[in-house]
Amino acid sequence: MEKIRLQKFMAEAGVASRRKSEEMIASGHVKVNNKVVTEMGVKVDDRDKIEVDGMPLQEEKKRYILMYKPRGVITAVKDDKDRKVVTDLLDADVQERVYPIGRLDYDTSGLLLLTNDGEFANHLMHPRYHVEKTYIAKIEGFLATEDLKKLEKGIKLKGYTTSKSRVKVMSKDSKRNSSIVRITIHEGHNHQVKNMFDAVGHKVEKLSRESYSFLTLEGLVSGKYRDLTRQEVAELKKEER
Ligand code: URA
Repeated sequence: MEKIRLQKFMAEAGVASRRKSEEMIASGHVKVNNKVVTEMGVKVDDRDKIEVDGMPLQEEKKRYILMYKPRGVITAVKDDKDRKVVTDLLDADVQERVYPIGRLDYDTSGLLLLTNDGEFANHLMHPRYHVEKTYIAKIEGFLATEDLKKLEKGIKLKGYTTSKSRVKVMSKDSKRNSSIVRITIHEGHNHQVKNMFDAVGHKVEKLSRESYSFLTLEGLVSGKYRDLTRQEVAELKKEER
């Protein structure tokens, strides 16, 4: 394990938020290797003995959760307007301080991972690891072949150009003037799929993430979740392209 700042280590171990942990350090509540530490720069790892008010700190068990996020829930652990957040959907069996890896919009449903393993989350979100994410979008109108090609090649959005994607029109509904399109992307910019379709003149009416790398929603209903298996976690740790 790479050394990390003491306050981050404490937060990841579930002691308190990072800010609160800083206060505890500054006010002399925390010992590292039997010495009280009050300055902020100290870095630690698993091998250091850390005590808070004389109590040895145990690292939280690592937890990896695959959730079927419903629409109408915020991808966060807390909302300042007190709206429902994804961690509200977790039962009492999840005592660890898990948080979402990346985000799905409020009105997007589908596959969302949560964890308390910071290294794992950073690994998957790092732009170098192009994890494939597949979405099913209901869009307004019908996608012209040239627009489909543009989306597949990479399209210029505000501040970045998307990398290659795969796009397949699944069905068209002429009565409702809408289509169902499957799109696989490799990045995870905010509102990326909506912005991609917007850029070729189609509003996304509904969006759902069907898969994340090799993981799917199989066996889950909306609002429910399961732990990843050890094997799945190990596979995701290897994810690299
Ligand atoms: N792209 C979007 O536009 N929204 C999401 O929630 C995820 C990807």
